[in-house]
Amino acid sequence: MSSEANLIPAPRRVEPHGGVGPFLGEVRAIVDTTLGPEAYRLTVAADGVEIVGGDEAGVFWGRQTLRQLQGPDAFRQASIDPAPTELPYLTVEDAPRFAWRGFMLDVARHFLPKDDVLRFVDALAAHKLNVLHLHLTDDQGWRIEIKRHPKLTEVGAWRPRTKLGWGGEPLLWDERPHGGFYTQDDLREIVAYAAERHITVVPEIDLPGHSQAAVAAYPELGNRDVVDTAALGVKTDWGISPHVLSPLDSTIAFYEGVLEEVLDLFPSRFVHIGGDECLKDEWRKSPAAQARIAELGLADEDELQSWMIRHFDRWLAARGRRLIGWDEILQGGLAPGAAVMCWRWYRGGVAAAEAGHDVVMCPQQEVYFDHVQSDDPREPVPFGWVHTLEDVYRFEPVPPSLAGTPHETRVIGAQANLWTEVVESRARVDYQAFPRLAAFAEAVWSDLPGPGDRDFADFARRMDTAHYARLDALGIAYRPPGGPHPWQRRPGIPGRMHGSARKTWENA
Ligand code: ACM
Repeated sequence: MSSEANLIPAPRRVEPHGGVGPFLGEVRAIVDTTLGPEAYRLTVAADGVEIVGGDEAGVFWGRQTLRQLQGPDAFRQASIDPAPTELPYLTVEDAPRFAWRGFMLDVARHFLPKDDVLRFVDALAAHKLNVLHLHLTDDQGWRIEIKRHPKLTEVGAWRPRTKLGWGGEPLLWDERPHGGFYTQDDLREIVAYAAERHITVVPEIDLPGHSQAAVAAYPELGNRDVVDTAALGVKTDWGISPHVLSPLDSTIAFYEGVLEEVLDLFPSRFVHIGGDECLKDEWRKSPAAQARIAELGLADEDELQSWMIRHFDRWLAARGRRLIGWDEILQGGLAPGAAVMCWRWYRGGVAAAEAGHDVVMCPQQEVYFDHVQSDDPREPVPFGWVHTLEDVYRFEPVPPSLAGTPHETRVIGAQANLWTEVVESRARVDYQAFPRLAAFAEAVWSDLPGPGDRDFADFARRMDTAHYARLDALGIAYRPPGGPHPWQRRPGIPGRMHGSARKTWENA
């Protein structure tokens, strides 16, 4: 790795040739498929700059490396210096470790306006991250326009007030209504903007749990034989709603209609159907749900959920797509074509990989970016486990139990997830995401040694000498190394820390 270039994520190989020359903005870009997907070779020499990519994405990632070589001002929206920058003569040979290098943004708990999403796509591209997973629906809001079911956004996208922080006595409320949604054209724009940057947008429509906003909009989607769903509103506080979808044919047909519009908007091969944290109390009490279990010959409510997931697995496969869901979709039996997003330690991911399913690792004990970045009580909203920059730098997507086995390649990548119960604005998203997303990008792109052998001091040096300046030029309100600026704190907003559980591979 070149220390002079201070590149993040670190490339596989940098060979300095000595000397520097002016960059006049011209790049010879060539595709040579023998290099492999997303790989590139960047050469800066006296006769100019050449990028050979294994595909167009590889060329694009090569351009991101070139941008870092140009200096921080290359990350501004417009050039502020008419003089050509000087580039070091060198060759960079590079390729990603993982095909799925993702970031999940929860735009359901707090809506993030379209412009802010577009800006975040730029930040992902600068870090060679290639998947933006949008968590579009939850108990607290429905954020995607569905033409055939307009109340999903007319009703489901709005809540009258919002719980401030998590827990605390007395409860604190932001009494302003909160909401918003993306029109279908907004989403087309986001998808196209991301595609220009070789980023795939993966939509998530969470079912059958985390669905109170949908039930508030269309009470017939809920378990009407056990709860007065017409009296439900969009959830205003946090935690998991017990008000889940009914397992009736009419509900399934409704969601097929939703997904038809989703497929029309999102060309992504993978479509996320959630599947997490579905509380089964209503199904246990509901005569209609119990009749469904009996009619289908299922053992219990877990198998009922599995039956729903399998339905959508088949439905998506018939349309050339693949289902991905949170690791709870393993309960009651995993659908044959499903891929698993593993968030509860590594266990579900290991089981899924061993059973031959593709896995994206995003354990909350490692890469949940709503969790605090230090144990400083001034961290804006004390929540979750402490995941420091160094912890994230040492994140390893492939656990030892899979490493070196034939199942290792089932781990197609990893993802950092930013839930937004206590993250209410673009500035808070920036603060929670950065600088940790830079460390995450290196953990999923670069060919690093095992977690214990990673040179965090070198990463920190590259951050200090180059990358914070790039983030400044991008206009990202990151967490400074010494802790939050006074205006980044949220004094008095209660949180919920998860205690001191640290990862060991034994309990992972
Ligand atoms: C999750 O954190 N409920 C996937």
